[in-house]
Amino acid sequence: MGKKTPPRADTLPPKTKKKATKKKRKRKPAEPKRASGDGWELVLQDAWDGLREYPCDHVICDPPFSERTHAGQKHGRRTESEGTTDGPGLLSEHGLGYPHLTPEQVASLCPFLHSASTGWVVVMTDHVLFPIWEREFRELGRYVFAPVPVVIPGMNVRLAGDGPSNWTIWLVVTRPKGLKDGTKPGAYLRPAEDPRRSKLVKGAKPLSLMDQLVRDYSQPGDTICDPFAGSGTTGVAALRSGREFVGFEINPEHFKQAEERLTAAVDPLFPRHPITGAQESLL
Ligand SMILES: C[S@@+](CC[C@H](N)C(=O)[O-])C[C@H]1O[C@@H](n2cnc3c(N)ncnc32)[C@H](O)[C@@H]1O
Repeated sequence: MGKKTPPRADTLPPKTKKKATKKKRKRKPAEPKRASGDGWELVLQDAWDGLREYPCDHVICDPPFSERTHAGQKHGRRTESEGTTDGPGLLSEHGLGYPHLTPEQVASLCPFLHSASTGWVVVMTDHVLFPIWEREFRELGRYVFAPVPVVIPGMNVRLAGDGPSNWTIWLVVTRPKGLKDGTKPGAYLRPAEDPRRSKLVKGAKPLSLMDQLVRDYSQPGDTICDPFAGSGTTGVAALRSGREFVGFEINPEHFKQAEERLTAAVDPLFPRHPITGAQESLL
């Protein structure tokens, strides 16, 4: 190949000013908002992200339920005119103020819950999603117990009067194979909703129920994680019984409510001391 002669200066195209191109800087993901106190931390963050970073002893959580249950929450009744993908006659407008979980989301969440917890994972759910949770945890090699009912008479009243009201939440109770922790209750029965709780996040659970679950599924001094913290009921129960708490919540209003409740749960004048097993049996 012949040697290329460089173009003469007078034949060169006129110099154009090179536009200063801004180097695109990789944006660091913004640090999520956090709140913390003696024995607790709360992060305004998606559960999936939070679970990656915070290992814990046990997860006790109350994620959104299925589309079917959320749909029924609008008025607690069926209409014949409306329908959803889930079946005819169910209201399509959701009344809880946060989205339901799909079976695909449950499947993608289980590995995160499994690897975040060294001990129990206790999940509140409905009859629609229970089999999905069960299947996914089993596939991960965990032991899954028979569904544990939580019955709250009067919880969801079917106003149309055309069938049974829905008063039962189902607990998915699972542990790593090999963990032995004694016999636990086979059911929980709670009184009907306390009207004073109405200001809390919709779907908030009775504190007395969370107190009981925390005591049944952890030991004093353990760290409990609730990645769907809502108004922080699990956290308040954990702190009241000498456990530590880490929670995630994606909704800023719910986060604020949980932060206030968790702050109020710890008396600044009396630092927390882990409650011993003997003291706990007196509670
Ligand atoms: C049933 S409520 C929890 C109520 C809570 N147990 C209480 O007593 O207040 C479910 C919560 O999960 C939150 N949530 C939904 N999707 C989420 C996600 N991807 N990450 C974190 N929180 C989420 C909702 O905003 C809602 O506050």
